[in-house]
Amino acid sequence: MSSWVRATALWLCTMAMISWAATLPEGLAELGRPATGGEIAAWDIDVRPDFVGLPPGSGDVWAGEEIWLAQCASCHGDFGDSNEIFAPLVLGNITDEDIATGRVASLTDPAVTRTTLMKVPTLSTLWDYIYRAMPWNAPKSLSPDEVYALVAYLLNLGYVVDDDFVLSDTNMAETQARMPNRNGMSLDHGLWSVSGVPDVTGSSCTADCDVAVTVTSSLPAYAMNAHGNLAEQVRDWGPSPGLWTATETGKETAAEPEQLAAANAAVEAAVAPEAALNVGGCSGCHQMAGQLVGPGFDAIRTKYAGKEHAAYLRDKIVNGGAGVWGSMPMPPMPTVGEDALQQIVAWLTSGEE
Ligand code: HEC
Ligand code: HEC
Repeated sequence: MSSWVRATALWLCTMAMISWAATLPEGLAELGRPATGGEIAAWDIDVRPDFVGLPPGSGDVWAGEEIWLAQCASCHGDFGDSNEIFAPLVLGNITDEDIATGRVASLTDPAVTRTTLMKVPTLSTLWDYIYRAMPWNAPKSLSPDEVYALVAYLLNLGYVVDDDFVLSDTNMAETQARMPNRNGMSLDHGLWSVSGVPDVTGSSCTADCDVAVTVTSSLPAYAMNAHGNLAEQVRDWGPSPGLWTATETGKETAAEPEQLAAANAAVEAAVAPEAALNVGGCSGCHQMAGQLVGPGFDAIRTKYAGKEHAAYLRDKIVNGGAGVWGSMPMPPMPTVGEDALQQIVAWLTSGEE
């Protein structure tokens, strides 16, 4: 934030407080107060791509390595290459030519593992993100010098800078000129330019969306219970129920592959109907929650929880019918294939009774 923006923000806050306080019921008017300069300064830590906001300081690769091993390696791997907690930050796959052109050529190859350093165009983003958000378990605990050192280390891991490199507020711009994908970001579209057109193509998909869901990646067994049972941390409705990652004995998940396999098969079965509904052409008239042409699947599942309803629903889907939810008829859907039909019926009747 510039000091002008800061002053304006403070002024707006103050004005808001004054008019807000005037409309509050008696006794509540004294709640809250304008933020102090110190409080705003503590939030105002963003570093812009033109490096406005960058605090003075410096750090070298060796210092960075030391901090990295103590505070970052447990999650991101000794060399920033771990795929366990988050996608790899660095792998040795950036070429001299990438650095010369500012475009990472291998990004066009879908088989190549994409890393943060391959993608990020701006050095300020890397600096800002680490200063603001890392380490994950203690954000905002790093000093500016430590962040300079860590960024120097990451750049060194990617062969962008040499072992004796020192990164500081005075050579950030120079170092930006070596960022491997610095020319990889386009600004000439709607997100950045008011007159540009949005950088999305394709028609909107609100009905008739034949989008099949395919699960393309999954948590490896050893990482399953790293953050407790995900199933209990995710809302239990909607298309993506949390994966059941816990076992009865807690952390020993790797030792109990059968149990995990069974739990995950259950999750996959819960996700599969979604695909079947899309393929079966049901989503044009039904959505998960709320009435569309037909009733929401949430309402249907509540009404028909229990296996005893399976035969009725199967018949209604294949042969259609009207009058249960209104006068709008549901057409016969005889083309849903047997597998999909079974999955859908099992899912529709599997709600809580
Ligand atoms: C406890 C695990 C953990 C630790 C320790 C940790 N990180 Fe992270 N880091 C993560 C996770 C998880 C993400 C992804 C967060 C997200 O996307 O919301 C992440 C994201 C990042 C990213 C952004 C990558 C991207 O492409 O978006 C950077 C850079 C990063 N970490 C650097 C560090 C540094 C430097 C340290 C040490 C000071 C560190 N991390 C310590 C878990 C950790
Ligand atoms: C052209 C619109 C349309 C399509 C396509 C459609 N439905 Fe329906 N569906 C409806 C309507 C309308 C109702 C309400 C019928 C009623 O009130 O009896 C309904 C009701 C239902 C019911 C509740 C039946 C009852 O008697 O309570 C189920 C279950 C159902 N649909 C499943 C499906 C499945 C599965 C598909 C895809 C294979 C599908 N629908 C495709 C419009 C549609």
